[in-house]
Amino acid sequence: MIFRQLFDQTSGTYSYLLASRRGGEALIIDPVLEKVDRYLQLMRELDLKLVKAVDTHLHADHITGLGALRDRTHCITVMGEQSQVDVVSMRIAEGDRLTIEGISMEVLYTPGHTDDSYSFLMADRVFTGDTLLIRGTGRTDFQHGDPRAQYDSLFNKLLKLPEETQVFPGHDYKGDTVSTIGEERRFNPRLQVTSVDDYVHLMNNLNLANPKMMDVAVPANMRQGLIQAEIARRGWAVGVAEAKELIGRSDIVLVDLRERAERERHGTIAGALHAPYPDLQENIAPGGVLHELAQATGKRLLFFCAFGERSAMAVQAAQDAGLTGARHIEGGMGAWKAGG
Ligand SMILES: [Fe+2]
Repeated sequence: MIFRQLFDQTSGTYSYLLASRRGGEALIIDPVLEKVDRYLQLMRELDLKLVKAVDTHLHADHITGLGALRDRTHCITVMGEQSQVDVVSMRIAEGDRLTIEGISMEVLYTPGHTDDSYSFLMADRVFTGDTLLIRGTGRTDFQHGDPRAQYDSLFNKLLKLPEETQVFPGHDYKGDTVSTIGEERRFNPRLQVTSVDDYVHLMNNLNLANPKMMDVAVPANMRQGLIQAEIARRGWAVGVAEAKELIGRSDIVLVDLRERAERERHGTIAGALHAPYPDLQENIAPGGVLHELAQATGKRLLFFCAFGERSAMAVQAAQDAGLTGARHIEGGMGAWKAGG
């Protein structure tokens, strides 16, 4: 496995780059906007293809690199279903799996620092975001923070993991890079409480100043979805009402770009062809299934996904590949369901 812990000095943020092999798919957790060039360079050097960029929660202390990475690599952006961000490509929830080629992580909902905080568990390590830090825990006094929920996330979820599980946090300000569940259980001062009320009292009396970047970072991080407006301006988007008229016509091929777990959880549109987004380039290149379907039969591709972001990127890629009839359903399944 390729595993890199990357550090942003300004905000004390750790970002994690993972891939199962050189030349393979990569995933990044909690990228920082100012470091995007560095990540892209490293991925070129290691011959990696970024397919997913994930934030553990909506950050208040730095601006996320999610949107910039999506714009520059066409990767999928991922956050929790509770997140206040305007658009991400994919929303995850407790019990889901976050997967790329050769790597599969269990998604743990661990609210408390914020109400959209998640941790990601592999066999030997857990990425805890700001829920569990090394000898600390994430503050709970803003962004829908809740010390009671955090106690539950810590004591009933993370600390129940095997002692030797490595802990990779979202931040460190002292220079520590990694810990273990057993070590934190014994030596983390915040975890030496005897009851949930003790913990709530401790967290409610920290009297911390707000993060320096908070007024800038939170609004910026809530606006990550940009690409759909540009696609609509070019006339490549259809609304739900128009989509309903197109679907079922013999010259239209409806293409669902989501993963199987998303279809199972949220349903799909009858008659849709399943062609997950990570395989898109192969499918729309000459010889690819979608390319041949569109070219040979004169059919037009109508893409959709969860919220319209993957499908907007797919339309652009299809247009670039010469499939000029390609369109997408603006807002994806989210808009489809809202439209009845
Ligand atoms: Fe945070």
